[in-house]
Amino acid sequence: MEGIKVEETKPQQAAKSEKQNQKKPAEGRAMRTGGKKKASGVIPSEPIAGVRDFPPEEMRKRTWLFDKFREVARVFSFQEYDAPVLEYEELYTRKAGEEITQQMYNFVDKGDQKVSLRPEMTPSLARLVIQKGKALMVPVKWFSIPQCWRFETVTRGRRREHYQWNMDIIGVKEVTAEAELLAAIVAFFKSVGLSAKEIGIKVSSRKVIEKIIDDLKIPKEVFAQTCIIVDKLDKLERADVVQQLVASRLIDTLSVKSIEELGALIGEEHEAVKELQKLFWLAQSYGYADWIQFDASVVRGLAYYTGIVFEGFDRTGGIPRAICGGGRYDRLFSTYGAKDIPSCGFGFGDCVIMEILEDKKLLPSFAPKIDDIILAFNEELRPAANELAMALRIQGRAVEIVLGEGKKLKWAYSYADRLGADRVMLIAPDEWKERKIRVKDMKKQTDKDENQYDVLYDDLVKQ
Ligand code: HAM
Repeated sequence: MEGIKVEETKPQQAAKSEKQNQKKPAEGRAMRTGGKKKASGVIPSEPIAGVRDFPPEEMRKRTWLFDKFREVARVFSFQEYDAPVLEYEELYTRKAGEEITQQMYNFVDKGDQKVSLRPEMTPSLARLVIQKGKALMVPVKWFSIPQCWRFETVTRGRRREHYQWNMDIIGVKEVTAEAELLAAIVAFFKSVGLSAKEIGIKVSSRKVIEKIIDDLKIPKEVFAQTCIIVDKLDKLERADVVQQLVASRLIDTLSVKSIEELGALIGEEHEAVKELQKLFWLAQSYGYADWIQFDASVVRGLAYYTGIVFEGFDRTGGIPRAICGGGRYDRLFSTYGAKDIPSCGFGFGDCVIMEILEDKKLLPSFAPKIDDIILAFNEELRPAANELAMALRIQGRAVEIVLGEGKKLKWAYSYADRLGADRVMLIAPDEWKERKIRVKDMKKQTDKDENQYDVLYDDLVKQ
């Protein structure tokens, strides 16, 4: 069988380096030389460290995943939008010390404009909503699947580019919006075969932290900063955190494990408690109560969240990174000089979920689907092969014409085998004189005569 010869060492090195990368990020990173020129005139065949190629076999997986995202968005009646991957840098420059602002792929363009590849979609969404202004009917229920860029430490489930399914509801102040978003996330998990035993969503509210900050008379301006520190709790020593937060009351509050306990601590009538209670009550009617759990330590790492926050995680302990995350951001628009609109949404990356689905063997087979392969016995008969192919393609069949000259029938059979095609059709001189085509049914691996037959062109294209 013919095939393209490739330098064997490169894919092997890439796979090896990727594996090492997953185990020991620091060492792996040092090993990856993607982007460096080896010798003059020779470009590296690997992509830049932390970013991915999507050859057809990977592209099929991606398309499958995106189709699942899109289908959930459709049944929840969200409209798809997009925005440029290149944005004004100032859209992302917030002062709360978020990781995301330190991870930007930013540069000054040739027009002296400070720009950045988008690390997330929410600021672009806000820009679009501000741009549309009053012409926009609320609530806005929009979704998108943008590629986002962050100069992250590359580990399992975290890369320097990722696709992120975003669903946002703009213009609803009630927790009914968060309940709807969580329903969509759970619908997605179910659609890919995951259950509440395997996946959980931790839910809390930033209003809890806001209340403690208020009680402790900590200035309101440090609210966002406090949330960022709290988000890193598991990565820091408690003593450091205590020092950073000045008071340990906050940490005590964050270890609260139920909404009842939270009520006892900050008051039954507090807005945060009321909203969380309502959300958990609504979850029952949606049928996803067993998927969500209250966890006061969840705050999310972005500065703009103001209310309910949530993150999906692997209950079986596979990858310790959030599968998805989101929350309410009622005060983002005013940071762009516009009037605030109550908003909430989530981002759901493509990396962690694919790892989980692969680990749990939940990915379907992604073989390309080719129906027919057509071979012309000689070049004189090629026009007949093309004619037949076009007639079958109009019917919606996926048809491949053998394009190389002088290919033998045996070659076409093994090619069809490799591609998993249903049929091989031969345009042969004697048969074609009678407008007949020799067909071999590749799926019937029985007797030679049973799976081969001649059929009239007109009958074949009529089927
Ligand atoms: P985020 O928590 O920064 O939120 O990211 C959301 C999700 O994107 C994460 O849970 C993860 O699935 C994925 N993700 C983030 N960074 C990476 C990375 N380096 N590699 C792979 N996956 C990653 C946001 O971005 C918010 N803008 C989401 C949002 C939308 N909130 C409201 N609306």
